[in-house]
Amino acid sequence: MRLLVVGANGLLGSNVVRAGQRRGWDVCGTYHSMRPDFEIPLVQFDLQAYDEFEAILAEFEPDVVVNCAAMTDVDGCETDPETARVLNGDAPGALAAQCVSHDVQFVHVSTDYVFDGTARDPYPETADPNPVQVYGESKLAGERAVRETAPAALVARLSFVWGIHRSRNELTGFPAWVRGQLQDGDEVPLFTDQWLTPTRAGQAADVLLDLIDHDASGLVHVACTSCVTPYEFGEVIAEVGGYDAELLGAGSMDDVDRDATRPAHSCLDVSRVESTLERAQPTLQEDVDAVRETFESA
Ligand SMILES: NC(=O)c1ccc[n+]([C@@H]2O[C@H](COP(=O)([O-])OP(=O)(O)OC[C@H]3O[C@@H](n4cnc5c(N)ncnc54)[C@H](OP(=O)(O)O)[C@@H]3O)[C@@H](O)[C@H]2O)c1
Repeated sequence: MRLLVVGANGLLGSNVVRAGQRRGWDVCGTYHSMRPDFEIPLVQFDLQAYDEFEAILAEFEPDVVVNCAAMTDVDGCETDPETARVLNGDAPGALAAQCVSHDVQFVHVSTDYVFDGTARDPYPETADPNPVQVYGESKLAGERAVRETAPAALVARLSFVWGIHRSRNELTGFPAWVRGQLQDGDEVPLFTDQWLTPTRAGQAADVLLDLIDHDASGLVHVACTSCVTPYEFGEVIAEVGGYDAELLGAGSMDDVDRDATRPAHSCLDVSRVESTLERAQPTLQEDVDAVRETFESA
């Protein structure tokens, strides 16, 4: 299987590269601003130049493309909506169309932020999206363009992605910040009024490749089964790492002034992926345990 990872230097992209290598797949990739430290064929590619993707397909001749590249800065999308619409809305549809014309399977990655957060139960794939910020609007436009252009494409929605960047080999994002604060003995203010289902990038990468093996198509939610607040996520990190949980403080989304609104509740229902792969998705505790050394040793 020849796998082309678009955005191989992102958190998810680096994990998809690693997961493909572990399976003995023939992996190649694109990067944007920084070349990742993988010994695979790599080419620089800017999503803004999406028409040039055809040349990359012709050069690498992949069986499947996984698009992990996106404008992921939620507040940045709010202040630069035009770029968000091009990178997250237009580019995915164009990549999908070029994959269709080359008879290449296309996998796209989307987000829980397509939902408005007013529900209180985890959102299934059949729930109506209603994004409340430019990032979510642009990602919804992208997933719709992909599904219209390439009905056989797989579109995976993830939630609050975290994990180990597999080119740099370091924990990134929210848990890295929490771990750093706890290690330094500093207080960690964490929201108690936002609920999400954190997705560990390494786990999601394996699921995406398993879904490719299953010829899965359409929308699928990929996340852990625990619908938690960032405060509860912090509690798991403190317990696994052996840190002082007294440093965790209760905070509110209202305490922070940000350009983009966040949904208060964007937990994802993962029944579809569980029934497709005939196994349970992990709990948050199981996901943290899977990389427990990173919390203990750094
Ligand atoms: N992070 C989350 O909490 C979260 C939650 C739900 C869904 N998702 C989705 O999951 C996917 C992967 O996200 P991630 O967490 O792995 O984010 P990430 O680490 O920020 O990776 C995004 C990648 O996109 C690349 N990129 C940005 N602008 C580009 C451009 N103009 N042309 C080509 N590549 C460009 C970045 O490269 P440079 O850094 O070099 O620009 C980076 O490698 C995205 O589709 C995202 O929307 C993320």
